[in-house]
Amino acid sequence: MSDRLFIFDTTLRDGEQVPGCQLNTVEKIQVAKALEALGVDVIEAGFPVSSPGDFKSVVEISKAVTWPTICALTRAVEKDIDVAAEALKFAKRSRIHTGIGTSDPHIKYKFNSTREEIIERAIAATKYARKYVDDVEFYCEDAGRTENEYLARVVEAVIKAGATVVNIPDTTGYCLPDEYGAKIKYLMEHVDGIEKAILSTHCHNDLGMATANTVQGVLNGARQVEVTINGIGERAGNTSLEEIAMIFKSHKECGITTNINTTKIYGISRTVSSLMNMPIQPNKAIVGRNAFAHSSGIHQDGVLKNVQTYEIIDPKDVGIDDNAIVLTARSGRAALKHRLHVLGIETNQEKLDQIYEDFLKLADKKKEITDDDVLVLAGADRTMN
Ligand code: KIV
Ligand code: ZN
Repeated sequence: MSDRLFIFDTTLRDGEQVPGCQLNTVEKIQVAKALEALGVDVIEAGFPVSSPGDFKSVVEISKAVTWPTICALTRAVEKDIDVAAEALKFAKRSRIHTGIGTSDPHIKYKFNSTREEIIERAIAATKYARKYVDDVEFYCEDAGRTENEYLARVVEAVIKAGATVVNIPDTTGYCLPDEYGAKIKYLMEHVDGIEKAILSTHCHNDLGMATANTVQGVLNGARQVEVTINGIGERAGNTSLEEIAMIFKSHKECGITTNINTTKIYGISRTVSSLMNMPIQPNKAIVGRNAFAHSSGIHQDGVLKNVQTYEIIDPKDVGIDDNAIVLTARSGRAALKHRLHVLGIETNQEKLDQIYEDFLKLADKKKEITDDDVLVLAGADRTMN
């Protein structure tokens, strides 16, 4: 099995569904071009039948972007597929992403239908989409809560009908990592013709397990992951692209490679956050403000001796210039001495002890000590020069 993992970004579809995160077409093109530069394989550009604005965005993104496949979402409904095909007509590479709910709650309450009828509708939608494009992805909505045996029948039927990728969404973010991994393994082992298609993960973060579930999906045979920048998406969000990219870059023993240029991660994370007006939690893995900040004295001392003591990722690998040694009341002399050195001030031990004493008094009153504070403490206040 190939070790190449395809990155399917759904920031502009699942991410953009979040209240308050709507973008206009110009902004969507800006994000799409940044995703292209980042190296994603597929951009899910929207759900064209949902609104004229979404339709227009899919058209314009298809024109603006060259390398990644442009994907449009539909329900398993002919009208949706017609509109998606029309919106994709300028794409150099296009994919229709159609599908239907396969869990018992979806079949019963959403569709008032039966398992057999759902399989018929899945086959029909896949065949219909294949009339327009060669690349059809089928999603089994709420696959996370769909019984594995039935799910395998759906997956087998849509592959036979022409699906090239089959998406196994944990739509409600319910699965445990072992359970989701076992689901992918079951499909890899029980679906006839599985070698003709790629299985895709699409995990939501309702219980904080989206990334763990995605990793388990990949380790068990999925070769596409559906992710978003900063993990934005419905409710608690989707699996975050930056976490998956850095997990497989850091854990080489998994033998998984992606096309992501990780040095572009920090830039696109900020762009998406500011365009969507969606702040990033400070302790967010990889891109949060504190992701590479060391504040306790013990950690700072270690990092200043050798970064390998407390850093598993070089901040430059994700496009951040350097780690941050944050000066707080928990910082030690080593961190203060380092900051003084960075500011061009060399001290002997006696002077350092004296500055450190004043530093602690001030740090107990302030959350963070700035460079200007340090200069004042060292008697080298910029304003005095
Ligand atoms: O979460 C989900 O099931 C989805 C599908 C529409 C792919 O977003
Ligand atoms: Zn989703």
